[in-house]
Amino acid sequence: MNPLQEQVLALKRERNAVILAHNYQSAEIQEVADYVGDSLGLAYQARATEADVILFCGVHFMAETAKLVNPEKTVLIPDMDAGCSLADSCPAGDLRTYLERNPGLYVVAYINCTAEVKALSDVICTSGNAARIVARVPSEREILFVPDQNLGEWVRQTTGRPMRLWEGNCYVHVEFTHASITKIREAYPDAPVVAHPECTRAVRLLADEVCSTEKMIAFCRESPAEAFIIVTESGMLHRLRRELPEKTFIPGPTELCACADCRFMKMNTLDKMIRALETLEPRIELPTALAERARLPLDRMLEWSAN
Ligand code: 13P
Ligand code: SF4
Repeated sequence: MNPLQEQVLALKRERNAVILAHNYQSAEIQEVADYVGDSLGLAYQARATEADVILFCGVHFMAETAKLVNPEKTVLIPDMDAGCSLADSCPAGDLRTYLERNPGLYVVAYINCTAEVKALSDVICTSGNAARIVARVPSEREILFVPDQNLGEWVRQTTGRPMRLWEGNCYVHVEFTHASITKIREAYPDAPVVAHPECTRAVRLLADEVCSTEKMIAFCRESPAEAFIIVTESGMLHRLRRELPEKTFIPGPTELCACADCRFMKMNTLDKMIRALETLEPRIELPTALAERARLPLDRMLEWSAN
């Protein structure tokens, strides 16, 4: 532990806080977290915690989700500007207009969206449970899947359920290309390719496994292979190397480099965590009416996902 990490841990104890971190956070943040995981695991952890304060090291929609599932807690995010290009690709006003023009749609929203978009949705899903959630939607209802067209297309393909797709995407995952992944596969022919479903179809076609960040760990643990090509944000490599030190993880390259960093995820730093725990700011606050409406599809997801 370095001195800044020790300071974070001391403040955490003083505040009776819990530190939740997404798999894409930097190594030094993952090392001080009480729990590191994917969006689904983080939502369950946020709901279950008995700490007074949740310091959420991830992006804004994730911290907002923590507040929705546990409204009594103080929820802090180290940097309020840690947004998400995918959430930005579905503004609530545009979705509202679309739904007014196309009444009767059943909206399945990927958790990477704002509370306003959640409030317009029927059920939420994550990359870890999307197929399971879509399978529970009443069969007579036509589905609109927002905001990620790549994940939506993957769910449509795996479930066989027709769905309209919102045309949003993640700026990090669309940087991996068929050519860049083909090249690395040729260099490591024995290494299975493990890709996140936010990648384009051209990349998913080359993958041996397509799954959420948390499921990547289970897949690599259970596979007899010794080396894997990981096609997602760079923070995941740290998590995998920590969990499975005996295996080798090769970053899937984009067209330009092997440095698929999400600039939003990487806005969080130890310094900002210290400031947040000292000042109890920046804090996630939501208007009550919005929070109550947005919580409905989220609770539905947590219930459908557990049963
Ligand atoms: P996971 O739910 O798989 O952790 O993914 C979240 C995310 O932001 C992917 O870019
Ligand atoms: Fe959003 Fe993409 Fe960053 Fe995930 S990696 S938080 S989807 S911008």
